[in-house]
Amino acid sequence: MLGVCYYPEHWPESQWAIDAQNMRKLGISYVRIGEFAWSRLEPKHGTFTFEWLDRAIDVLHAAGLKIVLGTPTATPPKWLMDEHPEIAPYDADGKVRGFGSRRHYSFSSEIWWKESARIVETIAKRYGTHPGIDGWQTDNEYGCHDTTVSWGPEDLKAFRQWLRMRYQTTDQLNEAWGAVFWSMEFNSFDEVELPARTVTEPNPAQRLDFWRFSSDQVAAYDKMQVDIIRKHSPGRWITHNFMGFVNDFDHFKVTDNLDLASWDSYPIGFVEKFPFTEEERNRWAETSHPDIAPFHHDLYRGVGRGRFWVMEQQPGPVNWAPWNPVPKPGMVRLWSWEALAHGAEVVSYFRWRQAPFAQEQMHAGLNLPGLDEWSVGGLEAHAVAGELAKLGALPDSSTAPVALVYDYASYWAAKIQPQGRDFRYEELVFRWYEAARRLGLDVDFVRPGADLSAYKLVLVPCQMQVDEASLAALRNTDALVLYGPRSGSRDGKFNIPENLPPGPLAPLTGTRQTQVASLRPGLSDAVSGEVSGAAIRWREYLQTTAKVVASFQNGDPALTENGGHHYIACWPDQALLSSTLGLLAKKAGLETIELPEHIRIRRRGNLTFAFNYGSEDWTVPVSGSFLLGGSVVKAQDLAVWA
Ligand code: GLA
Repeated sequence: MLGVCYYPEHWPESQWAIDAQNMRKLGISYVRIGEFAWSRLEPKHGTFTFEWLDRAIDVLHAAGLKIVLGTPTATPPKWLMDEHPEIAPYDADGKVRGFGSRRHYSFSSEIWWKESARIVETIAKRYGTHPGIDGWQTDNEYGCHDTTVSWGPEDLKAFRQWLRMRYQTTDQLNEAWGAVFWSMEFNSFDEVELPARTVTEPNPAQRLDFWRFSSDQVAAYDKMQVDIIRKHSPGRWITHNFMGFVNDFDHFKVTDNLDLASWDSYPIGFVEKFPFTEEERNRWAETSHPDIAPFHHDLYRGVGRGRFWVMEQQPGPVNWAPWNPVPKPGMVRLWSWEALAHGAEVVSYFRWRQAPFAQEQMHAGLNLPGLDEWSVGGLEAHAVAGELAKLGALPDSSTAPVALVYDYASYWAAKIQPQGRDFRYEELVFRWYEAARRLGLDVDFVRPGADLSAYKLVLVPCQMQVDEASLAALRNTDALVLYGPRSGSRDGKFNIPENLPPGPLAPLTGTRQTQVASLRPGLSDAVSGEVSGAAIRWREYLQTTAKVVASFQNGDPALTENGGHHYIACWPDQALLSSTLGLLAKKAGLETIELPEHIRIRRRGNLTFAFNYGSEDWTVPVSGSFLLGGSVVKAQDLAVWA
């Protein structure tokens, strides 16, 4: 169940067989290669030099490793960029983002599509049926370095075309965007510009369409690669390696064409990336916050329709965060097991050996820079391999009792119209997830409209647009449902619904919203009743025919309940959130436990895993037969029991 990312092109050929042997010795079964190797595969247009990759694949295969081959499109070579400068992406200020690092392409460049198809086809034909090739990775980390959206002439051309397909006539476009406002009406699709470089805020419906368009471009581009690979590589699976805290495109849609999802897990790097408080950042600097990796494991298990890998696992310090601490001893092992507990099929470390050169020379690997000597992370990965061998095959992950509806479009909508500076979709969802896991609950992420009938409790932290399919799923579940702020507050055209928010959810929740307030940091509105705490950041004014479970200080409804459908009219602080989830879990008949901040548990089949991200011991409150660890879970350690 372990893998590693390897770059044969970075090392002398004499080293490959030694590396392959050492990978086997460490306990590695899968090796991902090739995803940045274009300049070595085609040094000049049409001049192919595949022989070295042939030999590398043979060497790895001969050692018994299964190969995941990456398509090299994240790094178009210099000759290609010089031949076709129109491939390059543009930033929102209209400046070219040029050659010299990676991901320097626009998803909308026509010539880029042709060139991508050409290199992917060449590679897929050559290696598609090689017995060593187990599966494929398309490209590398779509959206990394802010590259989902591009703002150049090629993008404008494609956007206009997308709008033509969607709206057919400019009358319909003008109506959908409310373009009469500020005299923005168009007579032709060729008059439409990109929503950037305007004097003040551009039209929100236009921005949402541009985001939808940009997201569709990623899915279509990926499908183009997938279709080519499938043609030439029968029987192999295909994935893409997604990222943490990237929401610029709809990952569910991209994965509709893939066999499984995978993601790149850098738990410590992400502590800096997420809007944590400084206190939290310091607290979790060397272990990571206990929900960061799990949040994404659960998200990508959902995105991958039950199947996911960790394609890149942090093996030690990284190079790309503002500060890059060394993980505390034991954390690489703990993160690996955390992924497996959440259902990962494979945990693959990035990378085999630290490179002593170029951009990532400060990024750890499983081996020390340039040497055949396992790093701390390498030794911990080896320990995981030993433990895995001891445990044997792990049971499948079963459906969790709690579903969390994750909606990329609501991330876009809240970015476009935050209304309060700190209304951040990803943060809201993360806090809801954290609160559920502090109660010891396992969570499945589902897309809007997914069947909810298997769940006991459904969390909808914020779904701004509720379409027919989502409404049907919510209507048809017997689960208790909790809707969060702004749910149902926009229709498909980014308009306020005719019956006021929560729009289509009004019959289910028995509520109608007449005003909203965003609250500056430091302001809050106390909530009391069957649950208590406070509204922070956001507070809504509801009229309701539903039961009022808790109220704001002035008596307004804060939490309502209508036949199992609960609506919370604010951004709940931690106390309000955990008491609300506690109450609902109890009503749903779910067993909960109040876990300390640094402890998390997770079930996989008949196994329960406990993880300690803190510095104090934790005693497992049940007696079980322990397969790993024991009843006292030490700092940065774990326990597994049946
Ligand atoms: C990403 C990329 C890798 C590498 C790592 C470093 O995940 O996919 O190529 O740059 O980051 O952490």
